[in-house]
Amino acid sequence: MLSTNKKLLTVLNGQFVWPPPVWLMRQAGRYLPEFRLLRQQADFLTRCLTPDIAVEITLQPIRRFAFDGAILFSDILILPWALGQDLQFIEGRGPVLPPIQSEQDLQKLNPEQVIEKTEPVLKAIRRLNKVVNGSDTIGTAVAQSVTLIGFTGSPFTVACYMVEGGGSKDFATVFKMMYENPSLFGKIIDLLVQTTADYLCRQIEAGAEAVKLFDSWGGLLPVMLFEKYVIQPTRQIVDIVKNKYPHIPIIGFPRLAGTKLQSYIDGTGLQTVGIDQTADISMLNQIVNSKIGFQGNIDPLCLLHNPSMMKQEIHNLCIELKNRPHILNLGHGVLPTTPVEHVYELVNTVRNLK
Ligand code: CP3
Repeated sequence: MLSTNKKLLTVLNGQFVWPPPVWLMRQAGRYLPEFRLLRQQADFLTRCLTPDIAVEITLQPIRRFAFDGAILFSDILILPWALGQDLQFIEGRGPVLPPIQSEQDLQKLNPEQVIEKTEPVLKAIRRLNKVVNGSDTIGTAVAQSVTLIGFTGSPFTVACYMVEGGGSKDFATVFKMMYENPSLFGKIIDLLVQTTADYLCRQIEAGAEAVKLFDSWGGLLPVMLFEKYVIQPTRQIVDIVKNKYPHIPIIGFPRLAGTKLQSYIDGTGLQTVGIDQTADISMLNQIVNSKIGFQGNIDPLCLLHNPSMMKQEIHNLCIELKNRPHILNLGHGVLPTTPVEHVYELVNTVRNLK
């Protein structure tokens, strides 16, 4: 159901809104003192899997900045964890998982467990839905204008972490498997297509009003593999979710896709795409159909280092994109050392656009 006071939902449904709605990737994070406080009390997985904590962290940036979108506090690696792959977040190193490198490793994963293991996440979504629709005690007028966003990683990006066993600059182990053992890599992608689509549907049933597929690493792929491992699996997920929930908007974020963005849009059927800060937005604006919504693409480093340049960039970007649905966001997540004042300046700049 489209509720007119939700600006973000309106834009996700293909309409132009001025000034554009605004939210930020990683808006709940270490740059917020109230997040750092909670961070001392529980490790990352516990924070994701305790509904009280996940709800609170999701709402922290909304209270401060009245963003138009509240993105569920969770992680793209919750799905591999729920499939049975161990997951640890190590300070200074990021996520660490025992890498999937053989058919036997893959066989150990069990999709049957996912529903039960992700129940705390769905519980958090149910609670957040009540908040953003004003029927919970912490609901406020501000909260009611907020759109609740659920998410997963894309199959390719999640497979990167599952196969590599963590983050990497070049995901060399993943490329080795794609070229040497495409059958095994294909099975991992197929498992992720089914479980991702199912998990997104469950998030929608729990109350997510829009969902986003984070594809942080698909842009690394050459065109042929991009088609096979990014576009096709994304299309399958979009078809499954849209078939069940035609009115729920889906945002795709194929980071670093560059000029492959056009084939991504054509091939996936997505209505709204996230754009990273390295993309040539004026060029994309000329070549991409103006019905397609763009989300982005202020440089997180500009937000961190130079708020006055950021203000100018916001003006330029929003004027440039006045011909299409646009959601103001960063090109990637808020960096942990970003001063909170700079984020206030970003939001005020957008809200005061004339
Ligand atoms: O955007 C939000 O505010 C919602 C929450 C969210 C997190 N991760 C919380 C998080 C979302 C949407 C993600 C997505 C995610 N996770 C992606 C895709 C987007 C991107 O950044 O490219 C990826 C690749 C991951 C995997 C991941 N999670 C890594 C590589 C790391 C370690 C590096 C880091 O940034 O700390 C994480 C940990 C993580 N996920 C943190 C948070 C707030 C930091 C953990 C902590 O504070 O203890």
